[in-house]
Amino acid sequence: MTWNINDAPEQHGRTAIVTGANIGLGYDTALALAGKGCQVVLACRNMDKASAARQQILSRYPKAHVECQALNLSSLKSVRSFATAFAKNHKKLDLLINNAGIMMPPYSLSEDGFESQLAANYLGHFALTGLLLPLLGKTSGSRVISLSSLAHNWGAIRFDDLNFKHGYSKRAGYGQSKLACLMFAYELDRRLRKAGLKTLSVAAHPGVAATNLAHHFPRVLTVLFPLVGQSAANGALPTLYAALGDDINGGDYCGPRSMRQMRGSPVKVNSNRASKDLAAATRLWKLSEELSGVSFPI
Ligand SMILES: NC(=O)c1ccc[n+]([C@@H]2O[C@H](COP(=O)([O-])OP(=O)(O)OC[C@H]3O[C@@H](n4cnc5c(N)ncnc54)[C@H](OP(=O)(O)O)[C@@H]3O)[C@@H](O)[C@H]2O)c1
Repeated sequence: MTWNINDAPEQHGRTAIVTGANIGLGYDTALALAGKGCQVVLACRNMDKASAARQQILSRYPKAHVECQALNLSSLKSVRSFATAFAKNHKKLDLLINNAGIMMPPYSLSEDGFESQLAANYLGHFALTGLLLPLLGKTSGSRVISLSSLAHNWGAIRFDDLNFKHGYSKRAGYGQSKLACLMFAYELDRRLRKAGLKTLSVAAHPGVAATNLAHHFPRVLTVLFPLVGQSAANGALPTLYAALGDDINGGDYCGPRSMRQMRGSPVKVNSNRASKDLAAATRLWKLSEELSGVSFPI
């Protein structure tokens, strides 16, 4: 059976946050949700880009409910402001799509002192989820979707040097951040179940999708990326399946079915051993609470 967006039920009366929704997979995820009648909040670091994306969605679906709200995941202050403002203006949250990301940039630290990929891809989303969990917990049928990658195989969690103070590798840094996102999704699922909460935590990856993500690659690879990758619209399907599929359980991981999970229709997929290491997941969770200053109520 092949899942398609046409299989998803209408989403009228539901609210979603999509991080990094101005372009790429986030944009196509937001577009599809808006097309289904969901109220969508485009959580973006650049408000001009967010407004342009909103206009583009409205030109396709004039009756869509689309809002823009500022969120820089590399800043814990921005994450806190976003969560506070969101909770003030919304009574419920059905879908939190933790999509935004960067890949293999030159070494830099976030304003809070974390390696940039760890900060934007993982820690910002960890904090955002913790701050929004009370609202998610109150919303029946809510889900948190965490974007991982085939690159979760590239890295390990460097507990002794999480921020690559020594020997930065762009590739290992991206791998670490995406492995952390996947471990977080699985650990969140275990904790939600233990706490008796009905919110589902689900992970997804797009395979290889031709987006702006590869702009730090050497030029020869940026030319090849669109040739290998599927479209952003198809790359968004595993996220949409994780968010809207009616056979999805907490702890599932969705990705493309074909070419070693690089492209194709969305299905449930498996992940590597490191992503299922329970002791490492607990250690990472505790460390992430310390580093972000956000304690989960579960
Ligand atoms: N494309 C692929 O083949 C692929 C493969 C595996 C996993 N993924 C994952 O899929 C997700 C989406 O990637 P994409 O391919 O759609 O990339 P993209 O086209 O580069 O889009 C990334 C989005 O994230 C936003 N973003 C980056 N840093 C941010 C921050 N600090 N705060 C808020 N927003 C931030 C970007 O905003 P700006 O426009 O302002 O920069 C943009 O909206 C990422 O998590 C990525 O790791 C992608």
